[in-house]
Amino acid sequence: DDAIVSIDPTARVADVPARLFGSFVEHLGRCVYGGIYEPGHPQADEDGFRQDVLDLVKELGVTCVRYPGGNFVSNYNWEDGTGPREQRPVRRDLAWHCTETNEMGIDDFYKWSRKAGTEIMLAVNMGSRGLHAALEELEYVNGAPGTALADRRVANGIEEPMDVKMWCIGNEMDGPWQVGHMSPDEYAAAVDRVAHAMKLAESGLELVACGSSSAHMPTFGEWERKVLTKAYQNLDFVSAHAYYHDHGHRTHDAALMQDFLASSEDMAYFIDTVAAQADTAKEANHGDKDIAISFDEWGVWYQDAWNEQEEAWKEDSDNGLHHEPWPVAPHLLEDIYTAADAVVEGSLMITLLKHCDRVRSASRAQLVNVIAPIMAEENGPAWKQTIFYPFAVAARAARGDAYVPAVSSPKIATASYGEVDAIEAVVTWDETTRTGLLLAVNRDLNAAHDVAVSLAGLPGAGAGADAAAAGVQVTAARMLHSDDPYLTNTAENPDTVVPVDLDPAADLAADADGT
Ligand code: AHR
Repeated sequence: DDAIVSIDPTARVADVPARLFGSFVEHLGRCVYGGIYEPGHPQADEDGFRQDVLDLVKELGVTCVRYPGGNFVSNYNWEDGTGPREQRPVRRDLAWHCTETNEMGIDDFYKWSRKAGTEIMLAVNMGSRGLHAALEELEYVNGAPGTALADRRVANGIEEPMDVKMWCIGNEMDGPWQVGHMSPDEYAAAVDRVAHAMKLAESGLELVACGSSSAHMPTFGEWERKVLTKAYQNLDFVSAHAYYHDHGHRTHDAALMQDFLASSEDMAYFIDTVAAQADTAKEANHGDKDIAISFDEWGVWYQDAWNEQEEAWKEDSDNGLHHEPWPVAPHLLEDIYTAADAVVEGSLMITLLKHCDRVRSASRAQLVNVIAPIMAEENGPAWKQTIFYPFAVAARAARGDAYVPAVSSPKIATASYGEVDAIEAVVTWDETTRTGLLLAVNRDLNAAHDVAVSLAGLPGAGAGADAAAAGVQVTAARMLHSDDPYLTNTAENPDTVVPVDLDPAADLAADADGT
């Protein structure tokens, strides 16, 4: 064996939070319209929700869904999506340059979430709006009947408070692309005021401040320090967003692909830096709570296509004033994922689990059609992308506590991160049910590696040969692999890249010492 993964019982990170397996639904392209909602589809239910999509969302194991944006939220009026559908206004969405029909809004999304069995994480508009709209939305969503806005919700058919606990105070307010974007000092003051007032309105809320849009923003670090120091008393989470893609995908450049396969190094650095800034803010406030990280946008996104679209618009606008198209639910950001993308998403999930003492919530971006694990063909079937599988296995089986295993691994050379381990792994172990999960990826583009795993250190498993005697055994093993890293699933051939079941007895040899 050229790699060894062994469990050290002292390397327990924390309990695995259910919210780590969150996702994200934004009013963007065909995520909502033609994604979760398509009333004319043969599989649509009485509310217009696609049952085939709902079934896949459940199979994916999503626990919590962030809504309604994203960049979209920064020019959104939440009221537009409430009340009788035929009276809802049609608006322009400046973030994605689309027409928003408002056929779906918070009432509808609440109904969808109940069917999906998912918690809602709601974002408020800090771009074109702010404190007043946030307080009104909170009253509408969570208020007990008897006040004007809560009663409006009841009149709209939802009697019970929606009880949304987790609220994002804006989205990516550090980004120059964001409607109403702010400097660190401006946002620090704004989020402090909004969070303070929201907590006066309702106790028990868990509030998320915008963190940096990536670890490469010019204000990264400074942003977190200023925002968290100023608003420490009123905050529970700070967000982190990170997208990765293979910059050499068009030319099949091997060095760039190798770099991409090691993207989780950047995510780990991001988490550690934000956690350090949160601790500095805690100290400055003489505080006694840790601000947690909500990694509420993560995944693979081939951003070059979108950047080119934006460039084209800019060029157009140089030709004088004109009326651009504002399409309804166009095909936007519909990335088709490769086998290599699934490896990267697996390693990002492993990284989140390895840091789940600080990352207490995460949302893979996004859920359907838009940079998504689930694709929904118009009037046609829904199908799973390659990246569906690593998420699904973690969401289904990662329970109990997370452990960072000791990994002795061959190294790979990368341009961005230097020499890194080829094998990345995490272990979860639930002592009460005595079941566990080992997630591992091989990030080496050029070689397969045999991995020896020692389970002896699992608490309650017994040491060495005792592990076998204590009955800890491998009951199932699955592997996602393709000789061609660029292979994808498609609507026509959705089962091209799928995990295969290994036979624990035949494929995984156990040594007498329990490895
Ligand atoms: O998920 C797509 C976009 O990425 C979101 O709208 C925005 O928050 C981020 O830049």
